[in-house]
Amino acid sequence: MNEAAHPHEDIASLLKWYVDHGLDETIGEEAVDRFALPPPAAAARAVSPPQGAVAPTPIRAPLQAPMVRAPVPLESPQLAEDAREIARRCATIAELEEAVRAFEGCALKRTAKNTVFADGVAGAPVMVVGEAPGADEDRLGKPFVGVSGQLMDRMFDAIGMSRERDLYITNILFWRPPGNRTPTLAEQAVCVAFTRRHIELAKPKVLVLAGGTAAKAMLETTEGIMRLRGKWTSLKLDDGTEVPTIPTFHPAYLLRTPASKRQSWLDLLAIDKKLKELGAK
Ligand code: URA
Repeated sequence: MNEAAHPHEDIASLLKWYVDHGLDETIGEEAVDRFALPPPAAAARAVSPPQGAVAPTPIRAPLQAPMVRAPVPLESPQLAEDAREIARRCATIAELEEAVRAFEGCALKRTAKNTVFADGVAGAPVMVVGEAPGADEDRLGKPFVGVSGQLMDRMFDAIGMSRERDLYITNILFWRPPGNRTPTLAEQAVCVAFTRRHIELAKPKVLVLAGGTAAKAMLETTEGIMRLRGKWTSLKLDDGTEVPTIPTFHPAYLLRTPASKRQSWLDLLAIDKKLKELGAK
């Protein structure tokens, strides 16, 4: 791209494009090209032979020496099993929160600023489970406090419900994935073990799964959100209880695709109806 050819509005839209793709933080003044070869002088020093010896022909210039050992993947089936066992031993939400905060088995914790556990009223009739904290949530340590969370608040307000009174809100991930990337299946498996126990302990009357990632992870399906949304199902928990569960679009998707709000409104009406049937509203 020829930078000189950019009028200001193009630079603004380029910046917006970066933010939309999760590049929302500056970590240095200069961009670092990690694929760049070292400067010729450094490369020559690195391969210079002792005096008088014949220099071997380098096949290619040596790349920078790695600064750290290759990371060992932390998430493994054993870690998910450990998480399940730790979660099972928690008898209250407070204990579970403490256990999540102390858990070191998810590498996302290393890059996140905060553990984002929950917001709203524990024990509320509706529990909402989203995907993962974004930049605002990571900064403030609470789920759904950015623009998509504000939209979610307005949506529930339309059926007379608020997070101060009627909602308990969490995510399948307790730590923000760098750049808001989709969490890997291994990361999901570890955190979902805690989330399942979280639901058992919070005992909501109705569970709302916000977005495809949360819906697929909680319902253990590969079906997409377009097919899943608006359909009631029953989530079976490990303690033998079952919760009426409805997947719905993620509010961030609704911000990008406002025409889909009509379907989300139908989902909200279905939630309202279900709560009334259950005597919870
Ligand atoms: N998106 C989510 O799924 N969860 C949050 O907490 C914020 C944005």
